[in-house]
Amino acid sequence: LLFPVAMLTAAYLIGSIPFAVVSSRLFGLADPRSYGSGNPGATNVLRSGNKMAALLTLLGDAGKGWLAVFLAQMLSARLGLGSGVIALAAVAAFLGHVFSVFLGFKGGKGVATAAGVLLALDPALGLIALGTWLGVAFVFRYSSLAALVAAVVAPLTAFMIWGANLQAVGVGVIAMILIGKHWPNLQRLMAGTEPKIGGKKKA
Ligand code: G3P
Repeated sequence: LLFPVAMLTAAYLIGSIPFAVVSSRLFGLADPRSYGSGNPGATNVLRSGNKMAALLTLLGDAGKGWLAVFLAQMLSARLGLGSGVIALAAVAAFLGHVFSVFLGFKGGKGVATAAGVLLALDPALGLIALGTWLGVAFVFRYSSLAALVAAVVAPLTAFMIWGANLQAVGVGVIAMILIGKHWPNLQRLMAGTEPKIGGKKKA
């Protein structure tokens, strides 16, 4: 029991690292929680106008999700723990991003972190989700809408690939939380006030 608990704690802590805040500090920018949507994520950091800071946020937040799952896969294989622990580590890393211990248990909306998690769980699943995001973003220019559509496609794809196993359930849980975190975006999309990618927005 000690190893799985330590592994899940590590996944949560890795997921908690807020790359939006870290990269903004590195680039001498304002805290992303103070402008735009107030969300500590790559989309909002892009609203600062600094593309490198946004890219670092995207890669950091996705990379940490990937790393947490990858470590769980390695340890699980070594210790013969089974895939349930991997599914839990995926959810733990995602929860770390959304309820970060470093941000007073607040955090981001989890899109980049979920992408990293999916890529580690199954590259095909990750690429399908990523392709969905890119396709919707390219056509409609809304980051949030792209995330919402990808969050519907990802669990359906997961269930098609694996059937109803624990990893598919984990992807479903992640997708539901991600959609819930986009509630303000959904309202803005329906009201026609959601800003397009790269645009500026008031709080
Ligand atoms: O990555 C989060 C994105 O889907 C929405 O971000 O800042 O527009 O609320 P934001």
